[in-house]
Amino acid sequence: MRKKLVAGNWKMHGNLAENNDLLNAVVAGVTGLRDANVAVCVPYPYLASVQEILRGTNVAWGAQNVSQFDKGALTGEVSTAMLKDFSCTYVIVGHSERRTLFGEDNKLVAEKYVAAQKAGLIPILCVGETLEQRESNTAEQVIEEQLKAVIELAGVESLNKAVVAYEPVWAIGTGKTASPQQAQDVHEFIRKGIAAQNEIVADGLTIQYGGSVKGNNAAELFAMPDIDGGLIGGASLVADDFITICSALQN
Ligand code: 13P
Repeated sequence: MRKKLVAGNWKMHGNLAENNDLLNAVVAGVTGLRDANVAVCVPYPYLASVQEILRGTNVAWGAQNVSQFDKGALTGEVSTAMLKDFSCTYVIVGHSERRTLFGEDNKLVAEKYVAAQKAGLIPILCVGETLEQRESNTAEQVIEEQLKAVIELAGVESLNKAVVAYEPVWAIGTGKTASPQQAQDVHEFIRKGIAAQNEIVADGLTIQYGGSVKGNNAAELFAMPDIDGGLIGGASLVADDFITICSALQN
């Protein structure tokens, strides 16, 4: 059975005091949940304290971005080795906010994915279409290209050690969730595309849905056959909401 995972993406939110309260509540709330793999992807400056709080719990942690380079004169960048220093398990690559606001293209995202895996980090590779692309019926083509860039650089077997997150850009932070069927259709499309290259890899691949997942819609999304959990923005900052979403993995 493939792994189901709920990961919080805190984005640029939090402070030391709030993080501490949030994580202690989350740890208490998810302890004892069956089949619930839970993680939080936090801003870089908090990795040290998050590590302190989460070490020995069943909540993993990671970052939201990473450099494609190992080291060097690269002011402001953070390397995979630095993330490993703080025992990160995951790193998000290719989030739509990085793609649209910071100009990351498919090639760069693929390079970050490769760098993450080389260091033993599990990349959470985000893919997804804008509203305009959905309305012009190019969503599948866009997603195919996003995946192709990674598969061409890293090989399809690399997906054995990765997570894919389908995040329709029009659903992120908008309160407009994809319906379970809309999301399922895209997840199935992704899995079938990968299965055409390697069926075993496709069967084992965790594909999360992201975009306005809340406590009141997580269960119906996660019940779909190709949706293996979620990548959660806003609701991951509210302990009760995040715990409810994690609990929905059990249904
Ligand atoms: P929201 O859950 O706030 O819509 O954000 C989704 C997201 O971008 C997770 O990476």
